[in-house]
Amino acid sequence: MRDLIEAARQARLRAHAPYSNFLVGAAMRDEKGRIHAGCNIENASYPQGWCAEPSAISALVMAGGRRITEVAVMGNGDALCTPCGGCRQKIREFAAPDVKIHCCAETGELIRSFTLDELLPFSFGPENLA
Ligand code: THU
Repeated sequence: MRDLIEAARQARLRAHAPYSNFLVGAAMRDEKGRIHAGCNIENASYPQGWCAEPSAISALVMAGGRRITEVAVMGNGDALCTPCGGCRQKIREFAAPDVKIHCCAETGELIRSFTLDELLPFSFGPENLA
């Protein structure tokens, strides 16, 4: 878990968040144990910015990863930074309900871990389209 959190911490430092000043880092472990990280990237046209989680998912997919097995997220300070609603759904596409999402302080200290199912109960996913 420490390696994942450290990757999120490093990614957060790369955030492009000049409008909110809320820097977010996310890291995702794939089914091969590899870690992929990303940050939020805001835009002068505000709605065009995006969250740290899809940045990390994009890196995972581009590296050939197919599944998310563990997630770490952190925002500013020690406020609990859980993935937003849209990000929960994006994680859901690649993760099982019992996948752990570690919400950390900016320092890397673990604040609280959730399962995806706790954050997104009764979710809609790829199986629902079968
Ligand atoms: N943000 C994330 O990167 N991930 C989340 O799950 C919550 C929100 C970003 C989006 C925006 O750049 C900033 O945090 C403030 O909302």
